[in-house]
Amino acid sequence: MEPFYITTPIYYVNARPHLGHAYTTIVADSMTRFNKLMARETFFLTGTDEHGDKIVQAAENNNMSPQEYVDGISAEFKALWPDLMCENDDYIRTTEKRHVKTVQDILQKVYDSGDIYFGEYGGHYCYGCERFYTEKELVDGKCPDHQTKPEYISEKNYFFKMSKYQDWLKDHIQKNPDFIRPERYRNEVLSLLDSGALEDLCISRPKSRLTWGIELPFDKDYVTYVWFDALINYLTALDYPDGENYKEFWPAANHLVAKDILKPHAIFWPTMLKAAGVEPYQHLNVHGYWLIKDTKMSKSLGNVVEPLKMKDTYGINAFRYFLLREMSFGQDASFSEEALVGRLNADLANDLGNLFNRTLSMTHKYFGGEVPTPVNEEIEDAEIKKIGRDAMKTYQAMFDEFKFSRALEGLWELVRGLNKYIDVTAPWALKKENDMDRLSTVIYVLLENMRKIAVHLWPVMPAASEQMLEQLGISFDPRKVDLSKEIDVWGLLESGSTVDKTSNLFPRVEMPEPEPAKPVKEENTDKKSKKKKKADESQNGEYIEFEDFTKVDMRVGTVLDVEKHPDADRLLLVKVEVGEEEPRQVVAGLADFFSPEDLKGRQVVVVTNLKPRKLRKQLSQGMILAVKNGDDMQLLTPSAEVSPGCKVS
Ligand code: ME8
Ligand code: MG
Repeated sequence: MEPFYITTPIYYVNARPHLGHAYTTIVADSMTRFNKLMARETFFLTGTDEHGDKIVQAAENNNMSPQEYVDGISAEFKALWPDLMCENDDYIRTTEKRHVKTVQDILQKVYDSGDIYFGEYGGHYCYGCERFYTEKELVDGKCPDHQTKPEYISEKNYFFKMSKYQDWLKDHIQKNPDFIRPERYRNEVLSLLDSGALEDLCISRPKSRLTWGIELPFDKDYVTYVWFDALINYLTALDYPDGENYKEFWPAANHLVAKDILKPHAIFWPTMLKAAGVEPYQHLNVHGYWLIKDTKMSKSLGNVVEPLKMKDTYGINAFRYFLLREMSFGQDASFSEEALVGRLNADLANDLGNLFNRTLSMTHKYFGGEVPTPVNEEIEDAEIKKIGRDAMKTYQAMFDEFKFSRALEGLWELVRGLNKYIDVTAPWALKKENDMDRLSTVIYVLLENMRKIAVHLWPVMPAASEQMLEQLGISFDPRKVDLSKEIDVWGLLESGSTVDKTSNLFPRVEMPEPEPAKPVKEENTDKKSKKKKKADESQNGEYIEFEDFTKVDMRVGTVLDVEKHPDADRLLLVKVEVGEEEPRQVVAGLADFFSPEDLKGRQVVVVTNLKPRKLRKQLSQGMILAVKNGDDMQLLTPSAEVSPGCKVS
């Protein structure tokens, strides 16, 4: 069987797990389950990074020894994963003996081959980042990340000849377009490699300064720099160099990280592997940040989202679905409970939940809960089957490339298609006319498609998927599934088997009560209303009539495709579907703010009855609404997905 190996970053134990860690690990788990369903042999690794200054400081702050401290937090991470339905095959800690041995073996190997040398180094050291900065990199003499003044340190250390592998790395990235993906990060790394000579990497710390690390095998006065130690975990867990797992899984290695640690994974790690005589990993998959109200989550800002709280409030299935559906892999996304509730209600309660409830209850009403035998196929059946094949094809292709949001969007074409199919075939009318042949076919088409949907959702919502299948009378064994065959195979659901009467997996939820607003003092209200009155008066004569407003036809559209305008840098040619037969082209001045990739798949508000006109020879059939905020531009978009063509009023 084809192998698949996926790793998460090993998380620092200087802080407790939050939404960001949960996201990466859930992605890794979903990817593992998806690959299991694709009949591949999988290995999923996560763990904790436990050496370095940061950890020592965190331990001191908590009045503990480093070992006591790391044991505590590492256990907390480890215990979290089953609660989030993440089933990792191994859990690695860098303080484990097996890891210390692998790091020392590799260090010795690289040292023996002459790629490690001893030298003097002086630089601005930031303890927060655990790295040296050059003058050039500092902003007003401070670390750009931590806004603190680094300490100037001059000392003798060991260096890895990273510069020696710069050309090899560039060449490797160029020859393997999906080595680093999505493409924006590949480009970022290539331009970094193009911008100048790579420096050698300082890989040691003198014990006089730090003892909490792995001792260098060739100098007991030094410990290993935490990144050189941490990255090697990906090999340790496979029993490098002789283990069976190493032989089987290393060639299929997929690393998964957020953009914060792109450089160590895209530059340090492949060059380290090269120097150690190990083949490079297969793919580095890089995602963006979860933001809270447009700023990065951080402990000091107190805006950290606790994954367990979300799970307890909304259920782990809905939480996982939301994370994968909401974030376009590679880009930043905003987390909010409103958005989560919106998706839960729209996609899960409405679309998916209704489909299950309606169909199961009809099966009971018309066939006593027994799966009917389909008779002959009509045009609607052929149409919905085609929608299903396309949806599954998209889902599988997108999932394989970590494009979860597009995968789910694709699958929902089938979910929504089936709800429409019910409306069009009107089973209740067939029953009235006593057309039992047709009714049997319609119900069977619905149930068989629901089975397909449930199987496809197992990677994202494992328990919900198993429950859906149970409701359809199917006992599920992931090892017996081959998802790729599901696209073309029809009729695996057995006629005569029994289905449940109701589903109710995804009840609608209400938004939690917002914090009560502070009462406004009366005096204030008074002032405000006076002010308002004044504003009203001053605008007198500038009002438009309601009828005037209704003349503007605004619709929600889905962006299908985007290209740069051939003759204008600031303009984009946006193909947007607004519920008409053909998509429209809108020429939009958004190129300074969005790349074509950013816009693809998004929903926008389009003024559709503007007179068409040409902008630099390109036809523009409408206008996309956007909001300028200082130097930033945001799109106007519905708070949850709606069907393209819906009118804005
Ligand atoms: O960097 N949004 O560990 P770390 C999305 N020990 N993902 C986020 C996130 C956010 N706001 N915040 C954190 C380290 N993450 C090193 C790794 S690997 C050999 C060593 C996730 O605890 C994301 O996966 O700082 C990110 O790359 C990782 O947590 C950083 O975890
Ligand atoms: Mg970090």
